[in-house]
Amino acid sequence: MPVLGMLRASFAEQQPFAGLRIAACLHVTPETAVLVRTLTAGGAQVHLAASNPLSTQDDIAAALAAEPGVMVQARSGVDRGTYYEHIHRALDGHPDLVMDDGGDLVNTLHEARAELIEAVRGGCEATSSGAARLRKMAAAGSLGFPVVAADVSATRRMIDHKYGTGQSVLDGILRATNTLVAGKTVVVAGFGPCGSGIAERARGLGAQVIVTEVDPVRALGAIMQGFRVMPMSTAAPLAELVITATGSREVIGAAEFATLPDGAMLANAGHFDVEIDMGALAAEATEVNLAVRPHADEYVLADGRRLIVLAEGRVVNLVAGEGNPAAVMDTSFAIQALALAWLACGGSSPGPQASSEHLSQLTAGRVLDVPEAIDAQVAGLTLASLGTRIDALTDSQLRYLESWRQGS
Ligand SMILES: NC(=O)c1ccc[n+]([C@@H]2O[C@H](COP(=O)([O-])OP(=O)(O)OC[C@H]3O[C@@H](n4cnc5c(N)ncnc54)[C@H](O)[C@@H]3O)[C@@H](O)[C@H]2O)c1
Repeated sequence: MPVLGMLRASFAEQQPFAGLRIAACLHVTPETAVLVRTLTAGGAQVHLAASNPLSTQDDIAAALAAEPGVMVQARSGVDRGTYYEHIHRALDGHPDLVMDDGGDLVNTLHEARAELIEAVRGGCEATSSGAARLRKMAAAGSLGFPVVAADVSATRRMIDHKYGTGQSVLDGILRATNTLVAGKTVVVAGFGPCGSGIAERARGLGAQVIVTEVDPVRALGAIMQGFRVMPMSTAAPLAELVITATGSREVIGAAEFATLPDGAMLANAGHFDVEIDMGALAAEATEVNLAVRPHADEYVLADGRRLIVLAEGRVVNLVAGEGNPAAVMDTSFAIQALALAWLACGGSSPGPQASSEHLSQLTAGRVLDVPEAIDAQVAGLTLASLGTRIDALTDSQLRYLESWRQGS
């Protein structure tokens, strides 16, 4: 993770988090360990809880817990009660800054630990689903501090959602099923950056890809890229593999379970495990054969059709695979680390310069996009790590682009 390596060196010098406590709720993986070390190099004390018990790697949790300045509350496979207990323990550190992945930490902070809000300078949310929850809190005037939505970044959406998730979701599905994708009809629900990446990769493996959408602009984009688009009710009877990537709930449910072909596989790439209606499927099933392969459960319906659910309907690339490759997380975590440094320093040094509009929103309990300057810095560092140089605008070009007086 060379980009975080470069940031770690500059944070070690600039100490943007000197004396500050960060409560973080993240997938406890090797990549997160590199992020945590970047933050502690910048002077932070980090209290880490897991953002998903199924993705926690216990050896990583143990290794991090042994490091100075890091407290870890995470164990693989814990139940829901223990999951929230761990979040509470991370909040016991009285954070100055928070870093969340899905919104559970910020939500718990507001719902159950409101006495801690005043001291929090700001936070950073990793996912679109988490940011959507925070925007609702902000609209209701309930968000007690500014939060940067790390996914609202052109660099992040390209590298992480489209190319990273596109690849790793197919990788997770292949590990769980060892199925041949070529020739299969694959239905991708949602054509955001994640869904479009998944659709492209499935097509690259030879699948016939159908896209379902609720947004006409995104649906049109899918058509223009050569995908078939139709409602889920029409797509389901054709689907040999359904992959949901919407951030919404019950995208595939009882009506579709009634029409899916025998042997159809269902996988979810969205952040929460609500996109496949697992309650309805369990109610419809006359027999459930768990773990017919690792991370593949078979649901037998009354008419004998079998539906195969991968990774229990949770994020398939994290549960059945290893999540996004380290190179992807390098870019995403660099954005989060810089956003947090920028918040720690009230929008001034050592983060890059942000627009005055961003600075004016810093104290308002708003959900902010990643400042363009951070996006550009991370893209530049990533290019540098790849050994790629690019051109710079000349003075004459700059003057031309900035002036409205010069026409053709
Ligand atoms: N698995 C991973 O590693 C990973 C990585 C990044 C993001 N995510 C998650 O994936 C999901 C999608 O992310 P994104 O960045 O593409 O989000 P996005 O919000 O940009 O795109 C989601 C798309 O789904 C569409 N949609 C919503 N409801 C739908 C429905 N009922 N049927 C069909 N389409 C519907 C929306 O119109 C939108 O175009 C989110 O939950 C996000 O948190 C997962």
